[in-house]
Amino acid sequence: VSPTDRRATTLTSPGPQGLLVLGPAELVTVAGGIRRGPGQDDLAVLRPTGRERLALGAADGRIVAVGSEAEVRAALTEQGVGRPALTVLDASGATVTPGLIDPHTHLLFGGSREAELALRLRGASYLEILGAGGGILSTVEQTRSASDEALLAHGRRWLAVMAGHGVTTIEAKSGYGLETKAELRLLEVYGQLATEGPLEIVPTFLGAHAVPAEFRDRPHGAEAYLDSVVDEQLPAVAAQGIARYCDVFCEQGVFSADQARRLLLEARRRGLGVRLHADELAPSGGAQLAAELGAASADHLAAPSLEGVAGLAAAAEAGRPVVATLLPATSLFLMKDEDAPARAFIEAGVPVALGTDFNPGTAPTADLPLVLSLAVLRLRMTPAEALAAVTINAAQALGLAKTHGSLEVGKQADLVIWDVPRHEQLPYWLGADLARTVVKRGQVVRERDGRIA
Ligand code: NIG
Ligand code: FE
Repeated sequence: VSPTDRRATTLTSPGPQGLLVLGPAELVTVAGGIRRGPGQDDLAVLRPTGRERLALGAADGRIVAVGSEAEVRAALTEQGVGRPALTVLDASGATVTPGLIDPHTHLLFGGSREAELALRLRGASYLEILGAGGGILSTVEQTRSASDEALLAHGRRWLAVMAGHGVTTIEAKSGYGLETKAELRLLEVYGQLATEGPLEIVPTFLGAHAVPAEFRDRPHGAEAYLDSVVDEQLPAVAAQGIARYCDVFCEQGVFSADQARRLLLEARRRGLGVRLHADELAPSGGAQLAAELGAASADHLAAPSLEGVAGLAAAAEAGRPVVATLLPATSLFLMKDEDAPARAFIEAGVPVALGTDFNPGTAPTADLPLVLSLAVLRLRMTPAEALAAVTINAAQALGLAKTHGSLEVGKQADLVIWDVPRHEQLPYWLGADLARTVVKRGQVVRERDGRIA
């Protein structure tokens, strides 16, 4: 059939567009819902038995069958997927997983902060640099003065890097505008990037990321700025209708738990979900607040109190799990000796997710597979626990667990074919580039041919 004939057939009998992924050595389904406790180590992996090949089928972007090749082909036929409308991907010898989900990024910002790394090498702390008007505030200046085109180009560049690492959905925060118009603009650009695709973006409003220069020298500047976030920024963000969540940097010396509570309750009243930067540098009551509010996620948690861990454990036990989203690239980049107590969270039955925290100050990396390696090496998570953390648990942290994060019939066909025969090799080949084919909503969005010419 010539390409022209093929197009003609598709035009006369449109039918559903089908996808058949054929013959992986491992099909990591992560079926069965959110993972916590000992269950986080169970990925529900399918391996071929006997001579039958494994397969996954999708029609019009949704998964219609997972199982043996015969079953999957039959399901595709039943869906009316004709041969011309079927894309077949050879996954022989490979590992297939759900598309990775990065549940914590600060994707959009202007400039870079390598100069600050040099200051930290000479002994300055992250919060000292922020206190002196640098850190987040220097990125705020560079972001405010960046053009829309520059922000869009930056967003496209790093989304492409993420896609190359097997990421198909991300959360992305504002927070480098710190005044109404500049915050709305960042969210607007997220809306534009989401429309362009192919990655899905869950936008989060982070107006309470730091106290901007205009408020710092005023008496009660932090309170006054928070008033403006609650009374001006939040209503405008809700009216704009792009942000799905509200976040706050709850940390000693930034915003207190009481201030965070006030903001998040108001955000919820206005229809936004809530999440927070909690206990990143010191115990600040963030984990307890996340449990109290039933937040979607509490992030960082590199220095939680025992009460904080207990609060999250109680919430999970009560069936209102708050995902603990751990960000080990940040601890590494801040040169911390201590990492988040991932094992304590897992033992306490708290669902754990992992993210990059991609941002110019504490985690200039868009490499989620590298974070998997850090999770194993520094957080002592197993490869399976780490993979559950960037699939179904990351989906849960973004309120997407019904449609994303696992390879199950009815879910969105977001998946990756990796150049490894077993999922345990994903964190093992440190810093390797292993994503062979990336599929979003049943469409190939990224293909890498690893051959050297
Ligand atoms: O998650 N801690 C607050 N926000 C970011 C860092 C932002 C920055 O330094 O620019 C974080 O680590
Ligand atoms: Fe962050």
